[in-house]
Amino acid sequence: VDLSAANTLRLPCQAERFAAPTTLTALRQTLAEARREEWPITLLGGGSNVLLPEALPGVVVRPDLQQYWLNQRQGQVLTYVGAGVNWHTLVMETAARGLWGIENLALIPGSCGAAPVQNIGAYGVELADTLQAVQVMELATGQVKWLDTQQCAFGYRESIFKGALAGRVVITQLVLRLSRTPAPRLGYGDLAIRLAGSATSTPSPTPLAVAEAVCAIRREKLPDPHELANAGSFFKNPLVPDAQAAQLLQQYPAMPHFPQEGGQTKLAAGWLIDQCGLKGMRDGAFGVHQHQALVLVHFGGGNRQGLMKTADYIADQVETRFGMRLEPEPRLVNPH
Ligand code: EPU
Repeated sequence: VDLSAANTLRLPCQAERFAAPTTLTALRQTLAEARREEWPITLLGGGSNVLLPEALPGVVVRPDLQQYWLNQRQGQVLTYVGAGVNWHTLVMETAARGLWGIENLALIPGSCGAAPVQNIGAYGVELADTLQAVQVMELATGQVKWLDTQQCAFGYRESIFKGALAGRVVITQLVLRLSRTPAPRLGYGDLAIRLAGSATSTPSPTPLAVAEAVCAIRREKLPDPHELANAGSFFKNPLVPDAQAAQLLQQYPAMPHFPQEGGQTKLAAGWLIDQCGLKGMRDGAFGVHQHQALVLVHFGGGNRQGLMKTADYIADQVETRFGMRLEPEPRLVNPH
């Protein structure tokens, strides 16, 4: 099965088998069959944050659970959503219903089931802020279990699903805590300015207006994967000790920097790459996006090996100049 259209970077990948179960029962059966036949299992969501190899033996499973319902409880609206629902569709539908909580996360590609894996975040909000619980199915037993937010061990683009539970569970459903009480979060970048200038602006914005402003900003900077293959940010924003950040700031007073807990400062990988003069550069089949240096794009005809070569070159340049190593943000998927 050709997965090149099932990953937004359009990396060539041949899976030996592919399954997209639409119910928990069908998913359990798929897992049982894989266990019986001793097929290695690779889990896939929307394919927007993965670096696929050219061949995947065994079975690739993409849960296609599409149910979604809202449960109103004293001003809070618990939203139950299946892993296969498109994340952006959920954001726009809940925002259109006047629900607050995930409007800043509009236009993030991928499925709801993939959202907790890297704790998706944008414009000052991350999934962990509204997530109440995650339902998972154990690969080894087919049993369904629930994890609360604490158990998910969320961090910046991190969770237990990348750590202790990697390769052990399939995420099947999320429960989000949304609210009718207005709670706009407009502190990041030029979101507030953008919103004030939009046609739908009122003294108190609606969640839909916020979501639309976020979409407008993202459309300007981030290439649409349907038009130019990419996986969003290719590198994580690096965390460095405060002292290192202070030293760099003496040399580069305009450097964007965001102090974090624990004596660390987050830097902007896009800015670092941009400073190295790499924005818009092309290296064969791959390149750095013209409007956002953090996004690598695939012009076609390349594979993961070529992409990693380009990524290494960029990381080398940044390391030579700024003294820290950038790490890829999408998940490296390997045959078992
Ligand atoms: N910058 C440059 N040149 C560039 C890109 C960025 O100078 O080419 C500067 C910007 O001017 C800004 C700073 O770097 O001062 C940060 O840039 P931006 O606000 O665009 O955000 P980012 O750090 O590049 C992160 C997330 C995005 C998320 C945005 C908005 C990561 C790795 N990336 O990007 O997430 O949408 O913030 O919140 O944390 C993703 O994970 O795939 C993703 C797109």
